[in-house]
Amino acid sequence: MLEKAKGLLHKGLVAPSGRSGVPPFMVMDVMAAAARLEAQGRRIVHMEVGQPAVGAPAAAVAAVRATLGSGPHGYTETLGIASLRRRIARAYADWHGIEIEAERIVVATGSSAGFMLAFLSAFEAGDRVAVALPGYPPYRHILSALGCEVVAIETSAESRWSITGESLLAQHRIKPLKGVIVASPANPTGTMMTGEALAGLIGCAEEAGITVISDEIYHGLDYAFAAETAAKISEDLIVINSFSKYFCMTGWRIGWMVLPPALIRAVERLQGNLAISVPALSQIAAEAAFDGRAEMEAVKHGYEDNRRILLEGLPKAGFETFLPVDGAFYLYADVSRFCDDSFDFAKRMLEETHVAVTPGVDFDPQRGRHFIRFCYAGSAAEMHEAVERIAAWLRR
Ligand SMILES: Cc1ncc(COP(=O)(O)O)c(C=O)c1O
Repeated sequence: MLEKAKGLLHKGLVAPSGRSGVPPFMVMDVMAAAARLEAQGRRIVHMEVGQPAVGAPAAAVAAVRATLGSGPHGYTETLGIASLRRRIARAYADWHGIEIEAERIVVATGSSAGFMLAFLSAFEAGDRVAVALPGYPPYRHILSALGCEVVAIETSAESRWSITGESLLAQHRIKPLKGVIVASPANPTGTMMTGEALAGLIGCAEEAGITVISDEIYHGLDYAFAAETAAKISEDLIVINSFSKYFCMTGWRIGWMVLPPALIRAVERLQGNLAISVPALSQIAAEAAFDGRAEMEAVKHGYEDNRRILLEGLPKAGFETFLPVDGAFYLYADVSRFCDDSFDFAKRMLEETHVAVTPGVDFDPQRGRHFIRFCYAGSAAEMHEAVERIAAWLRR
């Protein structure tokens, strides 16, 4: 068998589709360069990857251990295990004081799968969908792979770096929009929208017939003020959330959506065909994760300390301008004083200080040339070390 496979001729008959030609994540290049330095024995402070340094809550791991011997852990209900959907619904009562019917909760393979389901269920190919710049690149890339037209709206300090009703309607007047994606706290900036700003944007969008998708993956990690859920403002929008960040479960690939009733059956049909269901073990872990809140709050306090260390240390080191560092675990710093190409700057910084960060061009192809993103999800000792190394480097 192996012999025959070896002898086959590669005829080059299969080529990638045009829609698969989405840009790669440049942070991967930084990670690869950091890995090469590590292989040479260098100790790298990793501030490039946007994920918690610790793992899932102990309660989640224990629940999976306890269930492993009692399989079969087969396919689950397409929309998610009923008790998990009820538990997520209860979290909205606990966290936001609102009642959400468990039927509106859909479990997905991370918020990443939630985006695909949301875009497929709410938009047609060719629909125009607005996203903020700077912003999380996969919004743009998934939309374009699905044939939607991405309408990038540049945000600025005047609007606290978020899309406003005005900027949305300005694009809508040029050519009608079908959707808009908002994120608060946002990646790469960590900046949040006030409840008022979010409600204002949602009101304008609804009046214009534009569907709002609210990415709330960094909820729970808010320091400047409490993050508002869009689910409290309207039922006629899609909320996407995840166990990846607050619950430190990136590799478990599990998240959820809160859907308007009209989309539930559509998402069930799509998820049933695309994935059948979400991994059973991850759903069991996710349900138990809610019992690990105390542990996760301690992790959050660690991020708060890290944030303080950077806010005090980086200006002394030479980085004076950041976007509002409200939540998540990111700090988006202006490096225009030092360079015109943040990719090259991040590369040099990695080589010369062994601190890995992400260049802003991933998040904003033009203005990102003047920004780098720090992820402060590591330890306090790493934050101090990074600040010291960078300060010494910039002094040279
Ligand atoms: C803003 C934002 N949304 C969504 C995701 C995807 O998260 P996941 O698919 O792990 O839930 C990320 C990951 O970094 C993110 O930063």
